[in-house]
Amino acid sequence: MASIGLTVLYGFGGQPQIEGALIFVALGGISLGLILWGKHLMPQGPFVEEREPMHSSPEEREAFALDFFQSEEGIKRRTFLGRALLAALGALGVAAIFPIRSLGPAPGTSLFRTAWRKGSRLVRSDGTAVTAQDVQVGGLLTVFPEGHVDAADSQTVLIRVDPNGFRPLPGRESWSPEGYLAYSKICTHAGCPVGLYEQASNRLFCPCHQSVFDVLRGAEPTAGPATRPLPQLPLEVDGSGYLRAQSDFDEPVGPGFWNDGGNRRP
Ligand code: FES
Repeated sequence: MASIGLTVLYGFGGQPQIEGALIFVALGGISLGLILWGKHLMPQGPFVEEREPMHSSPEEREAFALDFFQSEEGIKRRTFLGRALLAALGALGVAAIFPIRSLGPAPGTSLFRTAWRKGSRLVRSDGTAVTAQDVQVGGLLTVFPEGHVDAADSQTVLIRVDPNGFRPLPGRESWSPEGYLAYSKICTHAGCPVGLYEQASNRLFCPCHQSVFDVLRGAEPTAGPATRPLPQLPLEVDGSGYLRAQSDFDEPVGPGFWNDGGNRRP
C-alpha cells in the first residue's frame, strides 16, 4: 500500500519527505512481514527423529494424521503469504521505476546548437546592438545573440585585431570582417568563461586551469589542459553597420562527450 501511495504521490508532483517516509514504510513493512512469518508461521524446532525403526501405535498414527492435515492448512497459508510477498515486491518495483522520469527531459540537439542563427545581431548584456565602429583594435566585448542575452551557452567574446597583421584560416576568409573575431566564451576544457585577453600576444586565457588560446589561429589551444579550439562564430557587417552572425558556431561549444570524436552536429 505504501508503494502504491508512493506512485500516486509521485504522479501528483511528489513531496520528498513524504516519499521518503513511504519508502521506509514499504521496505519496513516487507521486512516485518518476513520476520513475523519466520517467527510465528513456520514450524518451530527443535526437531528430533528417532534412529530406530519403530511401529507406530494407533495414537501416534492418529496424531500423524492430525499433523498432516494441519500442515496442509499451513501450506495453503504459505502460498497465500508467498503471493502477498510477491505483490508487495512487485508494487515496490513499479514505484521505483517512476523516479526515472525525474531525470529530466532528453537533451535533444541542445548540446549541439546555441541560440545563434544566421543573421542574429550581436548585442551586449544590456541588449544594445554592436556596430562595426564600437570596438577599437585590441578591444574585447562579451556579446550575445539578440533576444537571448540569458543564453549561457551562447556567450561569445568579440575581439578586434589589426586586419593587416592577420591571415584568416583557410575556409574562414569571410568570417572576420574589419578584423572582428568572435569565439565561444566557454572553455573547451571544463566550461569556465574565457575572458582574459592579452592584446600584445593576441592570446585568450582561461582563469580556471590556465588554458591559453591563440586568437589569430582559430583560438587553437597552445598551453594548458584544453585540447580543442574555441568554436568560432562567423561574422558579417550588415548594410546599417551592425555586426551579425552568419550562422551558429562552427562546432558544438564547451567541453563534453564530443571530445571522444563525436564533434559533428547530427
Ligand atoms: S576550464 Fe578552462 S582551462 Fe580548465
